[in-house]
Amino acid sequence: MKNASIGIFDSGIGGLTIAHSIKEKMPNESIIYFGDTKHLPYGEKSNSAIQDFSESITKFLLQQNCKAIVIACNSASSVAYKKVKEITGSVPVFNVIDPVVNYVNKNCNNCNIGIIGTKATIQSNIYSEKIIENNKNQKVHSLATPLLAPMIEEGFINEEISRTIIQNYLKNPILENIDSLILACTHYPLIQEEIQQYYNNNINVIDSANIVANYINEKLESLNLHSETKHADYHFYVSNYTSSFEKSAQFFFQENIKLEEITLPQ
Ligand code: DGL
Repeated sequence: MKNASIGIFDSGIGGLTIAHSIKEKMPNESIIYFGDTKHLPYGEKSNSAIQDFSESITKFLLQQNCKAIVIACNSASSVAYKKVKEITGSVPVFNVIDPVVNYVNKNCNNCNIGIIGTKATIQSNIYSEKIIENNKNQKVHSLATPLLAPMIEEGFINEEISRTIIQNYLKNPILENIDSLILACTHYPLIQEEIQQYYNNNINVIDSANIVANYINEKLESLNLHSETKHADYHFYVSNYTSSFEKSAQFFFQENIKLEEITLPQ
């Protein structure tokens, strides 16, 4: 079991930022990645649709004998984590929200925390509930920023158009006076620098990909589930292949990877 792969999934290719951080932190771990490109964006879908998609992907990853499941999508982590846990038995499941909430608890007190993400993530209110449940002194200000994920997928980064869209969202009065900002979408690590520039590096922009990878590393250690081999395999599956997804995937994972299309049983 220790040498089995970590199963990671997302609505598409955004979760590759998490997969990349996991690979950097744990180079001996094999990874099976599934991007549900046929159904993206999850951020615009209903909770029940996101739950159904997440359930069939999890079943596929369990069939591949994955030793742990990582929901590398904030939208699915927000609304489908419980559903996924119901079918995984003793296989541990990680979402991308708890590690960040954990980080905030340890590093912020009496903070003014901004959160940006998809509509599904922001409407679920889950970050805000979990942060305040742990510390009533925190103030949380959430804003849906649905144009950012497609903008990043189209490769608009460090350009006039991305600066304009980012600026338009971040100047929203909801985010006035924040001292920390959670990037609650797995696409956003790619625009972290631009966001930091908007704030002239004056606020703490929270890098969830590294935080999630560190958290999973510690948990696998405590569960005695770290791989004992020095050889790692990587497989990248999608539910709909296009060469443009493959090009973006290489950019998100920062390596020359190949995507393989498969059809999941419903
Ligand atoms: N990667 C997804 C997330 O973290 C955003 C993209 C989508 O809406 O499918 O929420």
